[in-house]
Amino acid sequence: MSKALVLCLVLLAAGATVARAQDTLCPAGLEGPDCGMCAGGTTLGDEACANLTESYSGWCYSNHTWAEGSTAKSYDCTTEARGTDYASTVTKVSAHCDAEIKKCDVHFALGDSPLTCSGLDCTFDGYAVFCGYTKCSCDAACPTVNGVSLGYMLERLTGKTNLACEEGWPEALCSFDIEGLSAASGGFQAFCKASECREW
Ligand SMILES: *[C@@H]1O[C@H](CO)[C@@H](O)[C@H](O)[C@H]1NC(C)=O
Ligand SMILES: *[C@@H]1O[C@H](CO)[C@@H](O)[C@H](O)[C@H]1NC(C)=O
Repeated sequence: MSKALVLCLVLLAAGATVARAQDTLCPAGLEGPDCGMCAGGTTLGDEACANLTESYSGWCYSNHTWAEGSTAKSYDCTTEARGTDYASTVTKVSAHCDAEIKKCDVHFALGDSPLTCSGLDCTFDGYAVFCGYTKCSCDAACPTVNGVSLGYMLERLTGKTNLACEEGWPEALCSFDIEGLSAASGGFQAFCKASECREW
């Protein structure tokens, strides 16, 4: 199936009604989807990490690079970026990558049909993540589009997933390129914050 067709069906499935996700009220020092990210560049963010890691030396590292000692990183993005034809449909992208299990879950808020694509067998290098294969599924019930289940089509996307960010802080332009899902070359682009709790 062509990339453009899959994307077209995904957009159809998303429908015209797209509500912007409400920002959740998070505990001090935490932010992002499910309040799962520490707030970079703040003492409260560092304190939240110290609490989470139960370590006096916990701190919030909000650089987009996979540096020595990085084990997991979360990304929180808006898609109000240049280069997206579908920025109004995908309202939010977030991701959580875990280097220990070589996995990145990329979540697309897409109208009534949010999707999660998991990049598997990933390697982490500087500002980029390369995943060898991908599994995508609908978060809720998959809609049927023109008589075909979206889930059936998503199951057939098994290609590579790449995630690459440019330099920038606190937000940087990141591309999520999921083979077969992203129609535009370079993938979905979004401005993302990134963070992880680390210990000195
Ligand atoms: C960290 O834990 C202490 C002790 O439980 C608490 O008083 C403080 O509010 C917490 N700070 C953050 C940012 O979570
Ligand atoms: C992020 O980390 C890299 C490598 O440690 C460094 O070169 C770069 O300046 C840092 N960027 C920011 C915005 O802190």
